[in-house]
Amino acid sequence: MAVDYAPRPAPGAGMLATKRLVLRPFRLSDGPTVETLAGEFDVAKMLDVVPFPYPEGAAARWIATHDDKRGANAEYPFAIEHEGELVGCVGLNRETDGLFHLGYWIGMPYWGKGFATEAAHGAIAFAFDELSEPEIKSGHYADNHASGRVMTKLGFRYAKESMRFSKARGHAVRFLDTRMERERFRR
Ligand SMILES: CC(C)(COP(=O)(O)OP(=O)(O)OC[C@H]1O[C@@H](n2cnc3c(N)ncnc32)[C@H](O)[C@@H]1OP(=O)(O)O)[C@@H](O)C(=O)NCCC(=O)NCCS
Repeated sequence: MAVDYAPRPAPGAGMLATKRLVLRPFRLSDGPTVETLAGEFDVAKMLDVVPFPYPEGAAARWIATHDDKRGANAEYPFAIEHEGELVGCVGLNRETDGLFHLGYWIGMPYWGKGFATEAAHGAIAFAFDELSEPEIKSGHYADNHASGRVMTKLGFRYAKESMRFSKARGHAVRFLDTRMERERFRR
């Protein structure tokens, strides 16, 4: 599917807009929807920090940390909204090596519409254009072929393999690390 990534004017402070999506800060009221969508095992098992089952109230507690993390330039979590509906999450999280790690998930009812690719594209542009990062990283578990496809579509390059703990699975899983440099993204 050809996706037009042309950005639209930003809809408000702290928000980004892509062709079909609004990337906005989470609100505490998003908590129950996050718990429903990210609480599916098929979503949680592909993420490192999301617990399974997702405890009631945990999403709101996570959202309550966001302002401080943004203020510290440590994390930029965005709710992905399509036609007023929360469909997923994309975020940049600064890791111990100083680089931002791009992560994302889309609720299962919304898979296969190009939302992850479009939202990730918006977040990457934010990292390079607004945060002036020279390089970001990402990656996916080796058994996550859909996310591999998203990264390939976005132009990430594969860097190395590691083992990464998945909270939902309860064990470390083979992980394929990817990288994207600003110039590579521009190309
Ligand atoms: C991975 C995920 C984010 C993809 O979201 P999405 O909005 O459906 O992604 P997109 O529609 O932008 O692109 C998905 C691509 O993967 C392809 N795909 C889907 N399932 C696949 C599979 N099992 N094997 C290979 N490719 C697959 C789709 O066909 C599509 O490629 P195409 O555009 O060339 O047809 C979503 O499935 C998800 O949230 N999964 C659980 C959490 C997760 O994996 N997060 C990422 C952690 S690294």
